[in-house]
Amino acid sequence: MTTLTPSSSSKLNIAIIGGGLIGPRHAKSILSNPNTSLIALVDPAPHGAALASSLQTAHYASLSLLLSSPHRPDGAIICTPNNTHVPLSLELIAAGIPVLVEKPIATRIEEGLGLIEAAKREGVSLLVGHHRRFNPYLLAAKKVLDEGSSGKVIAVQGTWCLKKPDEYFNGIGAWRRGESGGVVLINLIHEVDLLQYLLGKIVLVSALETAKTRGFEAEEGAAILLRFQSGVVGTFILSDSVPSPWNFESGTGENPTIPHVEKGEGAGGFYRIMGMEGSLSVPDSKRWSNEGWNEVLTTEDLEVDRAKVPFDLQVQHFYEVVREGKEPSCTGEQALSAMVVCEAVKRSMASGEAMEIDGFEIKEINSSRSRI
Ligand SMILES: *[C@@H]1O[C@H](CO)[C@@H](O)[C@H](O)[C@H]1NC(C)=O
Ligand SMILES: *[C@@H]1O[C@H](CO)[C@@H](O)[C@H](O)[C@H]1NC(C)=O
Repeated sequence: MTTLTPSSSSKLNIAIIGGGLIGPRHAKSILSNPNTSLIALVDPAPHGAALASSLQTAHYASLSLLLSSPHRPDGAIICTPNNTHVPLSLELIAAGIPVLVEKPIATRIEEGLGLIEAAKREGVSLLVGHHRRFNPYLLAAKKVLDEGSSGKVIAVQGTWCLKKPDEYFNGIGAWRRGESGGVVLINLIHEVDLLQYLLGKIVLVSALETAKTRGFEAEEGAAILLRFQSGVVGTFILSDSVPSPWNFESGTGENPTIPHVEKGEGAGGFYRIMGMEGSLSVPDSKRWSNEGWNEVLTTEDLEVDRAKVPFDLQVQHFYEVVREGKEPSCTGEQALSAMVVCEAVKRSMASGEAMEIDGFEIKEINSSRSRI
């Protein structure tokens, strides 16, 4: 007898820790996948119990109550405030439960390192929810790069430019005026993760800050030079003070609050990846090539499965990591590495010097230039 639905013992019973904005989104993906089921919701806030009952799942006011209950999960998704990501992940890992923690993995690099070490020591899977890796446009680009039809990649050009409204920095958003509320830690971090996913580790950055137009402490953007371990070099323009179609959100339509710039209107997309046999533009998803500069350029449309939902693919991926031993797509190391690159960009902006990134360490490239 064959069946398309796995037996209940092989289903992955997942608990969601945190019932804020993203928790219900994860719940939807868990409930729609026959491989997974929602075993409990943990949230101490008054709306937690109501949310759990609307999702027809058990409710616990704390993680320790869940862990001492009969609803022991096979995996947990942590989507709580950023500063609780590390302590909650550590508690689950100590209990031997695989974790998918929302980004950022930690608020401080040292804490993130401690978490990665704990997961390794206990032999428990740790994934970080950089779900843009599962975006269909990104998956299409990744597939072509991995197949190698564009040849050796030489360079990349990226852009994330969008104008944030004044309200974003007011009221409960007022913290974004401060040092940790700038565009590097909030937005560039996703770009860095995607670029490293596509092209490997970044080992050097140098950044020039854009003009400050709001008068806040937070940076608004930068022009960034990149070198990857593979030898690929790149440039990236980042700004949250200009309107433009060249950013991940406008280009992919994945954030429902930011209107999608439909295919073709993005004029070259937010990434251009130049290889010896052809160049790719993302998300217009074209591969450009010719045999020589006298030949007409031909374009090939990459196959993009626009029906795929990143959160659904990510939950299925979590299942495959835990049940089938698949390598995590965003490991703790990879997520922390994006944080380190962002930190290096900020240091470079402040000092005017290039920064070398060696593992999780940042070294200023000593500018002992000879003077004349
Ligand atoms: C359930 O898991 C199996 C095995 O990994 C996979 O082939 C199938 O596509 C999954 N179902 C969904 C809805 O993702
Ligand atoms: C938490 O981190 C995310 C980035 O992953 C950021 O968008 C969000 O603004 C952060 N929240 C706080 C309160 O720092």
